[in-house]
Amino acid sequence: MFVSFEGIDFSGKSTQINLLRDYLISKGNEVKVIREPGGTEISEKIRNVLLDKKNSEMYMETEFLLFSASRAQLVREKIRPYLKKGIYVISDRFHDSSTAYQGYGRGLPIEVIQNIHKLAIGETLPDLTFFIDIPVEVAYERKQLKHSDHLDRIEESNGDFYSRVRKGYLELVQKENRFRVLNGEESIEEIHKKILNEIKIFEQR
Ligand code: ADP
Ligand code: TYD
Repeated sequence: MFVSFEGIDFSGKSTQINLLRDYLISKGNEVKVIREPGGTEISEKIRNVLLDKKNSEMYMETEFLLFSASRAQLVREKIRPYLKKGIYVISDRFHDSSTAYQGYGRGLPIEVIQNIHKLAIGETLPDLTFFIDIPVEVAYERKQLKHSDHLDRIEESNGDFYSRVRKGYLELVQKENRFRVLNGEESIEEIHKKILNEIKIFEQR
């Protein structure tokens, strides 16, 4: 099974991924957690270019193609072989992040983005995608708790950008059945329970 987590920065994806991974392992599954951008040697190098604050001159087209390049490598080198072996794959962000951030956030045409997704990932789509939704203000409150020196190039973007990204996600989730929307303002434990419930429903299908 292939599960991805989506949401604006600080929505709680990493927290929920850790809990889900521990649960699946406790049930005897082999689990691989993958982070986007990154996850392979080549993809981690691309990640450094993408998140480096010195690269403030990067055009949105370059940014999108680099995310896609990182993902194309990850899909072929890791995700497909893992799924073939029956390993659970949990991805911290996947192609929906590009649609939300580079499409709705930066303004690249959504149809172009979807065409590049076809090349980069082909048929390797998540079975389930959890979108953890929080208002942008809540993300900012959580961000205050993180030392600003540690913010990456994209996390430094302004509030309008994040509002567009969130709106984009809310549109995207209407379009495909694989999405499950979670209220990220609920407690960590409540959200975790809902995720487990959805995983169980999916496995029983
Ligand atoms: P992401 O991976 O989406 O950036 P994290 O899991 O790192 O988000 O969470 C961002 C911050 O919010 C962390 O400090 C985390 O402890 C906190 N957090 C996560 N989930 C919740 C929640 N449901 N309620 C309140 N705070 C949360
Ligand atoms: P990351 O450092 O993994 O942040 P987080 O822990 O909050 O998920 O993600 C890097 C940043 O890259 C994050 O701000 C989202 C952004 N991003 C895109 O803009 N497009 C993409 O396709 C992906 C995968 C991430």
